[in-house]
Amino acid sequence: MEGAVGLRPIHRRAAVTLPCAASYNGRARDAHSLRLRVSVDMAVVDRLRGALGSMPGGPQGFRYFRAPGRVNLIGEHTDYNDGFVLPCALDMDFGVALRPVAGRQARIVAADMPDAAADTFEVDQPGQGDPAQWARYARAVVWSLAEEGFVVDGFEAVIASDVPQGSGLSSSAAYEVALATALARTFGFEIALPRLALLCQRAENRFVGVQCGIMDQSISAMGRARHGLFLDCRDLSFEHVPIDTEHYRVVVCDTSAPRTLAGSAYNERRRQCETVAAAIGRRHEGVRALRDATLEMLDEVAGDITPVEFRRARHVLSENGRVLEAKSLLARGDAVGFGRLMADSHVSLRDDYEVSSAELDAMVEIANEVEGCVGARMTGAGFGGCTVNLVAAPAVEAFAAHIGRHYPERTGRTPRVYVCEAADGAGEWG
Ligand code: GLA
Repeated sequence: MEGAVGLRPIHRRAAVTLPCAASYNGRARDAHSLRLRVSVDMAVVDRLRGALGSMPGGPQGFRYFRAPGRVNLIGEHTDYNDGFVLPCALDMDFGVALRPVAGRQARIVAADMPDAAADTFEVDQPGQGDPAQWARYARAVVWSLAEEGFVVDGFEAVIASDVPQGSGLSSSAAYEVALATALARTFGFEIALPRLALLCQRAENRFVGVQCGIMDQSISAMGRARHGLFLDCRDLSFEHVPIDTEHYRVVVCDTSAPRTLAGSAYNERRRQCETVAAAIGRRHEGVRALRDATLEMLDEVAGDITPVEFRRARHVLSENGRVLEAKSLLARGDAVGFGRLMADSHVSLRDDYEVSSAELDAMVEIANEVEGCVGARMTGAGFGGCTVNLVAAPAVEAFAAHIGRHYPERTGRTPRVYVCEAADGAGEWG
């Protein structure tokens, strides 16, 4: 089946601190060749194993599952307009160790939290009580599975993650998809990956209360190593598009700026898009979402909507066009052409959609100063978070050093630089 759950061997990753205060998250061999000061983090799976050692009953019967964080290469704020996106999964994982137990109780232990915080709930009443925020995601997944008739039995789970939190790299989607995968595999539910993604999105929308689109859960479930995922967010059909990983690296730069406005502005953007789609729909039968509209149609309704709404819609329409073009360029191995579209995407997000920030703009400008950086743009919802960059492999070290030197000068903040590999979507470890 297209998009079957990818397996990958347990491997060790290194988090590396650059002398220039940026940091690097990649494989140990890359770290070595970069001659950086290495501080090796315990891999997620080791932290899970460590936590299992102190579980009553020991580690017997646990299986290990993982799902990745993501970065969006292009196609921003298009998913909730039924449009196109092209993200890739990152080699940063949310890990779950899980075993079934007798009875109807679930117990989740967060290995990364101080004193290994735990949450216990009845699998038939995940909404009961007032759990800590981190535990709501697990309960949400159990709830959403049940909504579709996939009722789980009692289980114990331990969770740990090396997807940075609050940076816009979809640590919550990775959490939901990892747990849903673990529960589906453990209890024998056959769930196609797009459906699993939808189920996790619903968990986040309706149980956690965050109005995200479908992109993050889809890429976490359906990603493929060394490929981007071209996804049609209307029917969830998808295609894996190869990334020229021999010559280019996907580099993620975290601005370390808080994403305070992200929630409210996100919802406001969604409403503006719906308003314009409805205005066009009144004149053109068959326009259900901005995905169905053209720039000509938008011009026709200019008098019916505000100038701000006009610009919001113009971003979505132009961005959908860029994703389609970017997909062909990537498939042809034209990284430079792809990079140009990333630059256009950033300008459109900055000026028309207005979801960039001073820090994101500075990060993109500094990245563009480096020869070998062929594309740079903000990624994710915006208002802080990360940029995504396509950098020629030999230029990566100079790129990280340049960001590490100039970004703090411009902003007073310390960046983090992650040199990434496009990874497989969710699966079982081992
Ligand atoms: C967030 C949401 C996604 C998507 C992006 C913007 O990451 O979770 O669904 O809308 O913002 O492209």
